[in-house]
Amino acid sequence: MGSCCNGAFSASSHLSVTGFSQGFKSPKLPRLSKRQDGWFAQPPGASRICAYYGLRTPPYKLDALEPHMSQRTLEMHWGGHHRNYVEGLNKQLEKSEILYGCTLDELVKVTYNNGNPSPEFNNAAQVWNHDFFWESMQPGGGSMPELGVLQQIEKDFGSYTNFREKFVEAALTLFGSGWVWLVLKREERRLAVIKTSNAICPLVWDDIPIISLDMWEHAYYLDYKNDKGKYVNVFMNHLVSWNVAMARMARAEAFVNLGEPKIPIA
Ligand SMILES: [Fe+2]
Repeated sequence: MGSCCNGAFSASSHLSVTGFSQGFKSPKLPRLSKRQDGWFAQPPGASRICAYYGLRTPPYKLDALEPHMSQRTLEMHWGGHHRNYVEGLNKQLEKSEILYGCTLDELVKVTYNNGNPSPEFNNAAQVWNHDFFWESMQPGGGSMPELGVLQQIEKDFGSYTNFREKFVEAALTLFGSGWVWLVLKREERRLAVIKTSNAICPLVWDDIPIISLDMWEHAYYLDYKNDKGKYVNVFMNHLVSWNVAMARMARAEAFVNLGEPKIPIA
């Protein structure tokens, strides 16, 4: 995997900067190096370190989604494509000191550059998208959402059936490669189904993603050839993690007021 300029970092998690704010400026960070008793600040002029992003593993074994998504697909998709995005991003960042220290979310937003993406955007967004996608599935997933997620879906789409039809239709009408998302719109304070092309991620519009489905050919071709309809329906019936959606909704509600909580009447 990618490496740091001076070998200082080897962790697989993202580097972050506390207090990083909206408008992007090159953060003034002390240069750090490691010695036996911990990290220490280097004097100005010492060799620099580069930001480093790791390949996050899916929260299940690579054969855990069988027979709906094969181990072979996971090995190729996660172990090949996703890994390439991570390695490509790290290579780009070695040459870009100004992007040092962003969390991955920040990097996606900054490199999107209000619709005029910088060269790092595609890799950064695809790393984010794939991390999010693996966590949008679980062994034994699918079926119906429950509790708050179901209530919000019924409120915003009329019924779960309507939502599902919209999601499947968005997936099947997506031109070329891209993604389908269930997102929470901050301003409108409602759920929506959207589709994005190539690497675009709804974070760039400040939407809060709840669920995603990878509609790049590499996501389904080994298991379903060109039968995208089967892939999408299998995702809805057997893979999508409504447990994770519920946790994401609960977190989203800390930022978006969806109305008064329903207080049970004794
Ligand atoms: Fe993918």
